[in-house]
Amino acid sequence: MKKLVDLLTGELEAAFEKAGYDKQYAKVTLSNRPDLCEYQCNGAMAAAKAYRKAPIMIANAVVEALEGSSCVEKVEAVAPGFINIILDAEFVAHFLKAMAAKDKLGVEEPEKVKTIVIDYGGANVAKPLHVGHLRSAVIGESIKRIGKYVGHKVIGDVHLGDWGYQMGLVITELKKRQPELPYFDDSFEGEYPEESPFTIAELEEIYPTASAYAKENEEYKAEALHATYLLQNGHRGYTAVWQHIMNVSVADLKKNYGNLNVEFDLWKGEADAQPYIPDMVAYLRNEGYAHEDQGALVVDVKEETDTKEIPPCIILKSDGASLYGTTDLATLVEREKEFNPDAVIYITDKRQELHFMQVFRVAKKAKIVKEDTQLAHIGFGTMNGKDGKPFKTRDGGVMRLEHLIADINEKMYEKIVENRAIEEAEARETAKKVGLAALKYGDLSNQAAKDYVFDIDRFISFEGNTGPYILYTMVRIKSILAKYKEVCGEVQADVIAHPFAGAEETREYGQAEIDLMLTVAKFNDVIASVYGELAPHKLCQYIYELANTFNSFYHGNKIMSEEDKKKQGEWIALITLVLQLLETCIELLGFEAPERM
Ligand code: ARG
Repeated sequence: MKKLVDLLTGELEAAFEKAGYDKQYAKVTLSNRPDLCEYQCNGAMAAAKAYRKAPIMIANAVVEALEGSSCVEKVEAVAPGFINIILDAEFVAHFLKAMAAKDKLGVEEPEKVKTIVIDYGGANVAKPLHVGHLRSAVIGESIKRIGKYVGHKVIGDVHLGDWGYQMGLVITELKKRQPELPYFDDSFEGEYPEESPFTIAELEEIYPTASAYAKENEEYKAEALHATYLLQNGHRGYTAVWQHIMNVSVADLKKNYGNLNVEFDLWKGEADAQPYIPDMVAYLRNEGYAHEDQGALVVDVKEETDTKEIPPCIILKSDGASLYGTTDLATLVEREKEFNPDAVIYITDKRQELHFMQVFRVAKKAKIVKEDTQLAHIGFGTMNGKDGKPFKTRDGGVMRLEHLIADINEKMYEKIVENRAIEEAEARETAKKVGLAALKYGDLSNQAAKDYVFDIDRFISFEGNTGPYILYTMVRIKSILAKYKEVCGEVQADVIAHPFAGAEETREYGQAEIDLMLTVAKFNDVIASVYGELAPHKLCQYIYELANTFNSFYHGNKIMSEEDKKKQGEWIALITLVLQLLETCIELLGFEAPERM
């Protein structure tokens, strides 16, 4: 169904033409002066130049031509030439009625369904998930859900860091502790054990121990580097250990991401791209895209318009080893082959900006991707503690994601049991849901590129711009609807089943109700810009506004004791729609609401 701004633009187009002006000037936007009007059109200003007339004359003529339009209650031409629009409430009510009856609340299918790969999560195998990976998972999951909702084919890939030095470290440490294992016996030709020589808990201890030890001991470090080299060149025993590391870690990662409501379509990683490297390197060399520079193989990516020096992208180091960029390029080769995507979107810390700029330029220049493939990097800022420095544990260590989640859930739990009498199991379950909303909303409500302060007390508050406030509002609507059903019985149940069934006759609308209706009606426009800008924070802004306008409406009207039953029914239909919208939006943000809180 048409978006509200498009409907209004259509109306204004007709008026511009009727008044003798080109309809290209008729674009309507949301008002940026909500105190004066709801929507506005600034086209008279641009038209003034083309027609060599005063903008106010054009605006006046358009306003006159709009006379009798059923969409607007009031339009005004305001100096120097703004056209300010206040909508007819009845018209908006009909719009909402249509919205409620449509699939996806009126969001239209895209003209062309795109295949989009989203590369997010990016956990490093064998290392524990830390809060740095939180943002990638949370933002990426939301963008994936938004893309799917809009109607595209979106493939989320966790793209694990599973091919680096950390693997060599784990192998070396394991060999030191259990040299008798068959993986370290070069003459062993049998089947390697199926069972892993370590549990996840042990693995989580092995990596940091090895990593710290390698920093002090050169010999050990050299051995770990050599083990990495052997693994990368197909050493049979090390490959088997690598497989154990993968199995144990991936199971644990699935659990952790699951707790965050984050689900990947693909569990690929850097290792999957390795087979594509030799051919790609040969291609880059043969086609003259890459050249030798001090022994290394590089591709120049400088562009004339650059304002700062962009260094070449190193494909192979002088010792022949490939790098992070090499792997990302090879992953693009793989993705082209497997999915032929229209877009690939990466979500990582913004400190990787240069890396992606280089990779994207090589990919385009060397035609690894199609000319019109969109390559985008969404770089996010740091999650800081209250001291303004990167978030740490109380003793200054790196905070593990699991512990962070457990901390929030505990605080949430305390708050919930403090609020009302509730059974232990339900309180725990509710705390989990609300805690996740607090965490995710606290992150997503900030523009991704900005750093933000992780303020647990603010995030878990039931008031203000927080996840729990949104959920609290939803629970409030649920309880009104339940009460309505109980009091009015099944007689009125059809109002819930068929929202706005009675919204045909004229009646008075209060301002709070109109504000709420207008906010609901914007949904479609909001989704378009949230998706267009890949900006979940705008979805947060929207639901915060929706929750606020709902609460003002709720405080200003006594829904349950309203005498006019028809009006009451329409209110019920309206808040049913508000609830549906909120449910849809939080689903897109990646969390859910409890029944009560
Ligand atoms: N594993 C990387 C890290 O922890 C993130 C991977 C991002 N994705 C990519 N295709 N480079 O920084």
